[in-house]
Amino acid sequence: MEIVILPTSKDVGRAAAAQIASIVGANPAAVIGLATGSSPQGIYSDLKRRVDADEISFANARGFALDEYVGIPLEHPESYASVITRDVVEPLGFNPSRVRVPDGRATNLEFAAKEYDAAIRAAGGIDVQILGIGANGHIGFNEPTSSFASRTRIKTLAPATREANARFFDTLDQVPAHCMTQGLGTILEARHLVLVAQGESKAAAIAGAVEGPLTSFVPGSALQLHEHATVVIDEAAASQLTLRDYYEYTYANKPNWQRVQ
Ligand code: F6R
Repeated sequence: MEIVILPTSKDVGRAAAAQIASIVGANPAAVIGLATGSSPQGIYSDLKRRVDADEISFANARGFALDEYVGIPLEHPESYASVITRDVVEPLGFNPSRVRVPDGRATNLEFAAKEYDAAIRAAGGIDVQILGIGANGHIGFNEPTSSFASRTRIKTLAPATREANARFFDTLDQVPAHCMTQGLGTILEARHLVLVAQGESKAAAIAGAVEGPLTSFVPGSALQLHEHATVVIDEAAASQLTLRDYYEYTYANKPNWQRVQ
């Protein structure tokens, strides 16, 4: 696992965006796993800067969102289908027909979840998966005790997750209790994972995911099983890491041929 610690959250967005840009630059038809929430906003805004400067294009790329609420309509401004359209598809110029979000409104949710996994496979798998992490260690909406083998399925959101996401709704009651999320097993099949986290509130989750034991109690620790995972965090999110000096030393001494700008 590569741990990159940078001074500010803006640096985090820029560095993670550079990784995505280098993958899309090499393969304009790349398949990108898309996260929602606050953490990846800096990535998307830096990618937009690169699109506007004609450095890269997402016109031929494909996208698969990590998760979706169950229990709110598609048109709801906080459905992840709406968020992905607003934050990713429109600003980055994805072809909307090449971007999918799990169908949290399907009559047969179990079938829709299985079909989503099958669609990712049919697209050739995800080249790079963007991830945030919850303060409770979740990735996607795989809450603590999610199986490392789990596939896309319905989950019940932890009360802490509903409270954290209440900022996007008028009241806590409006935050759905259920979601459809890519499983940890699904996420681990992506060829490259890029997890970003900013701020003190993520420090314990990052320490657990990066340095803690491999445990479904901290779903983010599944990254330890992946052969190509990059964790890009600011100093506050890195504040509980024991080997912080080592990660900074490693990054500072990285050979040029390994650097992504
Ligand atoms: C979002 C997702 C979640 C978030 C996590 C952190 O698609 O899957 O795992 O990444 O809840 O949320 P923020 O970034 O809002 O702190």
